[in-house]
This record gives sequence, structure tokens and C-alpha cells, in this order.
Amino acid sequence: MIGRDLDRTNRAHLHTEFTRAAAGFSDRTKGRFDDMDVVSFARFNPSETVVEVGAGTGNFLSLFKGASLLLGIDAVPGMLAQARAHHPGLMTAAGDGRCLPLPSDSFDLVACAQMLHHVHRPLEILKEMKRVVRPSGRLLVVDQVASDKFEQAIAMNELDLLRDPSHASSRPASAFRVLFNLAGLSTSEERRWEGSQRLSQWMWKGEFPDDRIRRVREFIVERGEETGMDWRPCDDDYIFTRRRIMLLATKD
Ligand SMILES: C[S@@+](CC[C@H](N)C(=O)[O-])C[C@H]1O[C@@H](n2cnc3c(N)ncnc32)[C@H](O)[C@@H]1O
Repeated sequence: MIGRDLDRTNRAHLHTEFTRAAAGFSDRTKGRFDDMDVVSFARFNPSETVVEVGAGTGNFLSLFKGASLLLGIDAVPGMLAQARAHHPGLMTAAGDGRCLPLPSDSFDLVACAQMLHHVHRPLEILKEMKRVVRPSGRLLVVDQVASDKFEQAIAMNELDLLRDPSHASSRPASAFRVLFNLAGLSTSEERRWEGSQRLSQWMWKGEFPDDRIRRVREFIVERGEETGMDWRPCDDDYIFTRRRIMLLATKD
């Protein structure tokens, strides 16, 4: 598939997947950033302005308590409707991270969390995020990471895509560093995080179609070991290791 077709297909999948997921997403993913210390990692000061690209239902953005402005941008209006319902203090705007409806040099902190793995060309997003940060402001990225072993990263992405057709790529940590360099961002800090997650929570029955859950379970049985995600059975469920990266850059 060439670039524009890929973008169109990805947009269609994003819309279908996240419109369906919207109602339960906030509860399903509640607390997933709580032990990551993102607020101090981001060097956040109360009264700063914060925008999140791909804010979804607002769980991440709402961590920045005391901000003078919290603005969530997302491509899927149904996710933003849930953000407003769950977090009345948030402002939201529908928009594409590749072309933010925001002036240049305007925000103290520009973030995206668990979003870049849905994007095929993340450099476009990073450049756009850089554009809207004020000089000396910060850019924060949080995302899941794949193994540095190429074969494991491939298998993890096969599984991710089976679970969610709007998935683009889980990248190894080295890819994030390269992307930051290409965007002209020097990383001020990088941190890794690791935790356990249950399949039943990753693929909550209320959110995902039964036949997809079944196919993912089959993949885990047959090829889970190849993914580097440490899949292990637990009662009628599975547990795996979720790994994330946090990167912070300051705009010159
Ligand atoms: C996995 S959710 C994460 C939501 C939120 N950041 C959180 O962690 O709770 C990914 C979100 O990114 C949004 N998204 C993906 N690609 C986007 C793009 N190009 N522009 C704007 N939003 C996008 C999706 O619509 C979805 O709401």
C-alpha cells in the first residue's frame, strides 16, 4: 500500500475501532499511568499550558492537575466526548496530529501518550508537536516499546495488528531516539517502565469482538513466545509484560 492509501485505511480503522471502544475506554485503561511518575518526569509546573495529541478519553491529560489550560486533540470525536464527560476541566478539539489546529510556539508542554503506535509516519506528528511548543517548552512522548530483537518486534506487531487493525507499529526504544533526532529534538531525559497486564484487560470483552479475542488467544498459544512479551497462562487468562518508554525533549 502506498502512503496516501495507507493513511486513508489507517484513518478508517482508527475511526471504527475508537468509536466502538470509546464508551468503555476510560474505565478499561484507568490507572495505567499512575505509577509512571509522568508529571514530574515532564518537569510540569502548575499553571503551565498542556496539550495532548491523541488524548482519547483524557486519562493521561488529566494527570496534569493545576494546569492553566488542558487541551486534548484527537481524531475521533467519540473519544473526546468521553473525555469531556469523565474530566469536565478538559478542553477538547477534534483534529489530526499531523496538522494541529494550533498556533506555533504556544504551549508549555506538548504530549502524546500511547498514540504513536497508531501512526505509520510518526515523524510528521513529532514535527507538528515541536512546532506548537513554545521556545524552551517541553515535548513528552509515552508509548509502548517492542523488543530490540527484530524477530520479536515483528511478532509483537503481528499480534498487535490482530488485536486492533488501527495499530501501525510498536517500535523499539532505538527507533524513538532516531525519530527524535530526525525531528531536531535532543532528548533531555529517557526512562523505561515495565509492568504486568492481563489479556482480559488488554482485550476487555465489552470492547472487543469475541472472534477477535479468540484469534488473539490462538496466536498467544501458538506464537506468544516469539513476541518477547513474556506471555504466561494464569487461570483462564494470560498475563504479559507491558514495556513503555518516556522521552522528554526541550525545544531550543
Ligand atoms: C490508545 S489511545 C490513547 C488515548 C490517551 N492518550 C490515553 O493514553 O489514554 C490512542 C488515541 O490516539 C488517537 N489518534 C491516533 N492517531 C491520531 C492522529 N493522527 N491524530 C489525532 N489523534 C490520533 C486515537 O483516536 C485514540 O484516541
